[in-house]
Amino acid sequence: MHLQVLLLCAVLLGLATPGWTVKTKAVVLFGDSYTDQSRQHSIANGTFPGKDYQEIFPPADTAADGGVQWPWYLGLYGNYTIWNYAVGGAVCSNVLTTVNAEPDVIGGQTDWFIQDHTSFVVIVYVGTNDVGLHSFVTDDESPTLQTLRNLYALGARRFIVNSMIPLQLTRLYSTSSDPTIYFLRPAQRDASMNALLRGGVLALRTEWAHSGATVQMFDTYGFFTEMYDNPTRFFNGSAPANVTGHCHQCPDPNDFTQVRSDCTLDQRDSYMWWDELHPSEQTGRNLAMETFKALNGRSKFLF
Ligand SMILES: *[C@@H]1O[C@H](CO)[C@@H](O)[C@H](O)[C@H]1NC(C)=O
Ligand SMILES: *[C@@H]1O[C@H](CO)[C@@H](O)[C@H](O)[C@H]1NC(C)=O
Ligand SMILES: *[C@@H]1O[C@H](CO)[C@@H](O)[C@H](O)[C@H]1NC(C)=O
Ligand SMILES: *[C@@H]1O[C@H](CO)[C@@H](O)[C@H](O)[C@H]1NC(C)=O
Repeated sequence: MHLQVLLLCAVLLGLATPGWTVKTKAVVLFGDSYTDQSRQHSIANGTFPGKDYQEIFPPADTAADGGVQWPWYLGLYGNYTIWNYAVGGAVCSNVLTTVNAEPDVIGGQTDWFIQDHTSFVVIVYVGTNDVGLHSFVTDDESPTLQTLRNLYALGARRFIVNSMIPLQLTRLYSTSSDPTIYFLRPAQRDASMNALLRGGVLALRTEWAHSGATVQMFDTYGFFTEMYDNPTRFFNGSAPANVTGHCHQCPDPNDFTQVRSDCTLDQRDSYMWWDELHPSEQTGRNLAMETFKALNGRSKFLF
């Protein structure tokens, strides 16, 4: 069980024939615990998942949101085929951050994808609090940038980069001194990271200006803030909508097996957060629906 949790290195690829006005039929995801359904557990279990590992749903075990992760809902809402390459605990690039041995978002996971697919239009969805993203915009030779160029070289023409969520809203990064179950990395400031991400998006726009490729940004930060500010519109379990607490309770930060009672199943969808760091399944449904709208040009969070 990896307690280090790194956020939202999600890369989302929509497959279709070249030209992104063509209806998206499939979505491929790279990412970490915000996206992984079961790959990390499969690896921990001794079964290194090869490129064909495609257990999206139903999960054999519990993902980091306590249930079904958002990619499955995205597939449901958009009638997309979903390939989920995300691995919980993955960081953006092992070159930059060698905290664990999971296949990273930028290298190993995309290698699986590239082995599987050669002809596609791509929607990229990247967001992270990982240090690797700094070099996304500051270093022309950065692995992140190079990976995006590799995807471009393979035919990717539509890219969406997502911003970081407002981490200060999570229990883990709030100023609360309650014990938490996760190993803390130094929190990085979302706003400055998002500004850097935006810079990277604009740089790619310039680089690909005459290629017909588009690079957009999905404002995950804004969308999470909207959910936070409008609990009853988004959270519908049997308890009062709750965007500050979390369903899954764990009293000892050093022992994840000591579980205090969680909220009940019918209360789960009331919560924005599953635990101190991870969004809940209902938050995942909301994100999937907004992403579906974004893919179809109907989200104010895409620009
Ligand atoms: C873990 O290993 C067991 C025994 O080989 C297998 O039945 C189970 O499906 C595996 N779980 C995952 C998530 O790979
Ligand atoms: C969903 O996608 C499948 C496969 O692409 C297609 O055959 C089917 O008609 C689609 N269903 C709807 C409701 O669009
Ligand atoms: C809450 O709404 C989602 C759709 O966003 C729905 O799938 C889910 O079943 C609802 N939950 C409850 C407890 O009604
Ligand atoms: C939200 O949930 C927490 C449990 O994590 C609880 O302590 C708190 O009172 C709840 N807040 C509201 C407004 O219901």
